[in-house]
Amino acid sequence: MKKFSIVIAGGGSTYTPEIILMLLDNLDRLPLRSIKLYDNDEERQNHVAKACEILIKEKDPTIQYVATTDPEVAYTDVDFVLAHIRVGKLEMRSLDEKIPLKYGVVGQETCGPGGMAYGLRSIPGVLENIEYMEKYSPNAWMLNYSNPASIVAEACRRFKPNSRVINICDMPIGMEHTIARILGFKSRKEMCIRYYGLNHFGWWTSIKDKDGKEYIQDLIAHQLKYGNCLADDDASYYTDSSWFDTAKKVKDIIAIDPTMCPNSYFQYYLFGDDMVAHTDPNYTRADQVVDTREKRVFGECARIEKVGTAKDTTLQIGIHAEFIVDLATALAFNTHERMLLIVPNNGAISNFEKDAMVEIPCIVGKDGYEPLTVGEIPHFQKGLMEQQVNCEKLVVDAYEQHSYLKMLQALTLNKCVPNANVARKILDDFIEANKAYWPELK
Ligand code: NAD
Ligand code: G6P
Ligand code: MN
Repeated sequence: MKKFSIVIAGGGSTYTPEIILMLLDNLDRLPLRSIKLYDNDEERQNHVAKACEILIKEKDPTIQYVATTDPEVAYTDVDFVLAHIRVGKLEMRSLDEKIPLKYGVVGQETCGPGGMAYGLRSIPGVLENIEYMEKYSPNAWMLNYSNPASIVAEACRRFKPNSRVINICDMPIGMEHTIARILGFKSRKEMCIRYYGLNHFGWWTSIKDKDGKEYIQDLIAHQLKYGNCLADDDASYYTDSSWFDTAKKVKDIIAIDPTMCPNSYFQYYLFGDDMVAHTDPNYTRADQVVDTREKRVFGECARIEKVGTAKDTTLQIGIHAEFIVDLATALAFNTHERMLLIVPNNGAISNFEKDAMVEIPCIVGKDGYEPLTVGEIPHFQKGLMEQQVNCEKLVVDAYEQHSYLKMLQALTLNKCVPNANVARKILDDFIEANKAYWPELK
């Protein structure tokens, strides 16, 4: 069987070691000859680079490994680019979240005002990495899960329409692990689902078993009572207590439209006031990540490096990351697996803009993806999605035209922001904070 070469762009991410463990656990279906880490920050990548080398050597010493900050070394002779860069790193995430909070507005780093700021930083970083791929390995595929995924996907559609980039998100998969537990399936792979929306902004409309039996009404009834968790779940089933709170909040979200099952990210757009009330403006999600995931992963990597072995490691396979192997396998071996991807609508949602990037089921094979048809969607979902998609398109306009007004319109349109006065205050603070990253807006 052919063996593949992979580069992980954003090698210094806290997700890298767990993705590597996941790749190493799936060598039977996706054989590898080379794994490379690439980051533009050597110091940060060095937190994980040596431990990753040890993990790989101990599992399969025939796999070549290099950690580099040289794009040519990184991108030459690769089949897949797994891209998870964070332009500005967690320091800037912290500001994305805290600046709006100064004005009583939830920041939210993907679809809230924080995500708009992050989008303007991410676009050039992602485009730069696509250009490296096209220069050094033009036949490779980029599996991109760099956030904010919707804005990044819109930028890819506009500026790199013919590039071999597929934008994806792990959130529906994470939620489906719980949905499977709620409905009594052994695994989410036993479920055949229908879902539509934008990234971090969508709904499940059908969940069937292999015989075609529909379970969505059972799930709706359960979520109305408990949210997206089991009655007796505790925080140990979730990444941390904040994700457990998020799962429970689905109860309030679904009460607004109990005809379909929402992505839990709607808590930020529909209950921004509750989010603000429960957030310490000086200690947001970015701080929690630094104090928990980053400490845990970097600490364990340092320990592995010191003892020289990963035999007794506490690092675990990133279960959310299984979609990365599924997607790469589908592209490599033409499996025609059905997966949720962020793709141009092109009529799949018949009453929604053609050129919107939507998250819908697609069939994936060696030539890429073929989206499935969704049909017409109801007013409530359509209205929310239209507001959000136009807000995100305005961010890409602002990037393209270096336009202050477009960015002001984007923030004014954002569902989390109450009015244009507040939008302007947030924007002016964002401009100050993002001087090193944003184009100069005129
Ligand atoms: P992180 O800051 O820990 O790591 C990101 C790394 O990217 C850093 O080491 C940074 O130096 C590097 N980087 C920044 N700009 C770069 C560039 N131009 N080229 C190469 N490397 C660059 O971030 P994290 O919290 O681990 O998250 C990584 C990314 O993955 C974020 O964008 C996050 O939002 C995203 N993510 C997405 C999903 C999804 O479902 N789509 C899931 C998890 C994480
Ligand atoms: C989910 C989303 C990602 C997002 C992450 C943030 O996995 O799908 O897009 O990056 O949550 O999680 P964190 O633990 O960093 O707040
Ligand atoms: Mn996501």
